[in-house]
Amino acid sequence: MALNKQEAWGSRVGLILAMAGNAVGLGNFLRFPAQAIQNGGGAFIIPYLTCFLLMGLPLLYVEWAMGRYGGKSGQHSAPFMFNAMDKRFFWKYLGVFGIFTNLAIAAYYCYIESWALSWAYHSVAGHFMGKTQGEVTAFFNSYIGLGTVEPVVFWILCLLLNTWILSKGLKGGVELAAKIGMPLLLLFGVVLAVRGVTLTAGEQGAVYDGVLGLNYLWQPTFSSIWDPVVWRNAAGQIFFTLSLGMGSIHCYASYVKSRDDIALNAMSAGWMNEFVEVVLGSAIIIPIAVGYLGVDKVIEMTKGGSGFGIGFMTLPFLFTQWGATLSAISGFMWFGLLFFAGITSSLAMGTPCMGFLKDNFGWARGKAARTFGFAVLLLGIPCVLSQEAFNEFDYWVGTISLVVFAIAEVILFAWVFGMEKGWKEITDGADIAVPVVFKHIIKYVTPVFLLVVFFGSLPEIWATLTKKITPYVLFARILLAGLFAGIARLVYVAHRKRGAV
Ligand code: ALA
Repeated sequence: MALNKQEAWGSRVGLILAMAGNAVGLGNFLRFPAQAIQNGGGAFIIPYLTCFLLMGLPLLYVEWAMGRYGGKSGQHSAPFMFNAMDKRFFWKYLGVFGIFTNLAIAAYYCYIESWALSWAYHSVAGHFMGKTQGEVTAFFNSYIGLGTVEPVVFWILCLLLNTWILSKGLKGGVELAAKIGMPLLLLFGVVLAVRGVTLTAGEQGAVYDGVLGLNYLWQPTFSSIWDPVVWRNAAGQIFFTLSLGMGSIHCYASYVKSRDDIALNAMSAGWMNEFVEVVLGSAIIIPIAVGYLGVDKVIEMTKGGSGFGIGFMTLPFLFTQWGATLSAISGFMWFGLLFFAGITSSLAMGTPCMGFLKDNFGWARGKAARTFGFAVLLLGIPCVLSQEAFNEFDYWVGTISLVVFAIAEVILFAWVFGMEKGWKEITDGADIAVPVVFKHIIKYVTPVFLLVVFFGSLPEIWATLTKKITPYVLFARILLAGLFAGIARLVYVAHRKRGAV
């Protein structure tokens, strides 16, 4: 069944920008610097780069190859891509993760995206000028505490925007958004990074040079290679930042023509993400915050490994030290950058679900896009109402599901479909010579690496499951389990339907 023949990427540049946009997200600018700071600064870099080489790059090859392979038989979502590679019934149910994860991440991700939109507006309107740090913090707390209707308005606006762009299709929607959003994001990122690293002690109220923060991040500490927690966090960051183990890369790649290159495309998008994360992501919030507050304070503020505190509460206040005009410009650039980073990722989260509905139930694009938007709205309600539900979603889906799905896909690809066939899929039509060492890494190293990460997380998963929980947490878990079961049910119905055709 190939009902999506009309969908295709308009150009190679568009595809790479969309794929890079999928990867470059809030994780690059908020999560990465906070994770790096929390895991000992330079101590984080060695495990991070090792995870990128042994897990990130191999999984990029695998996901692009699986996607293009599935696309050849008209499959644009993980359940039936898995089924195309092996007919045993359980694979398509493992493929459910490739839709589930996107929907559940989008549920809280789009909400953060809407904060960025709102903060860009408040920056331009000058609403942070004259406020103390405590007042900006109070503003944030009242906002997420739903002190006004504004968060709901921006959130719905954001969901409508996502839905509208998705309804325009790949070429006229997703690709166009990436072609506009990515260059602007890079421009804003470079300007802010230059400002971050050139911040000088004594100038505009700064107490330290901006490069102090950068030095802290980049001075390698070799002792960290013995710390399993640092490894687990580095692996988690690689997953999240590259959008691995989600199913969105598969979906985008399924619209590549059957003999078109995927190897060079995968590397271009992957390395572009790393440039944005490692170079730009480390040169904005940390240098600016360290320049005013010092390293110790910034370590304290990033506890929990998220950069929300610095990104939404501290930076708007620090920008005001630069005067009204620069504060408005910097705030617009910073929150605009976060918004573009977020939306180019959340659009990618919508496509697997849409692909599934179009492939299997013959739905039109607009209807599929609206269904995604509505599902994200419903799933997002607990995340908007409760920080605990938000964290619960992030833990089970943004951390655990990604790894489970990746274990399944790499075993299917390398051991069931077979590495010889798999390697042919990766290198077919390739515009670069893929180093043959990756054949062995994909077959042996990546699965072992993933299993170690997963088994290493089991004590923590057990502790999380056996901890006393609140009604919100329980509700979030029931919702997630129900979502998974609901998608599995649809896969079952689609399978029966296919059998009947
Ligand atoms: N890859 C996306 C991010 O980094 C999800 O935010």
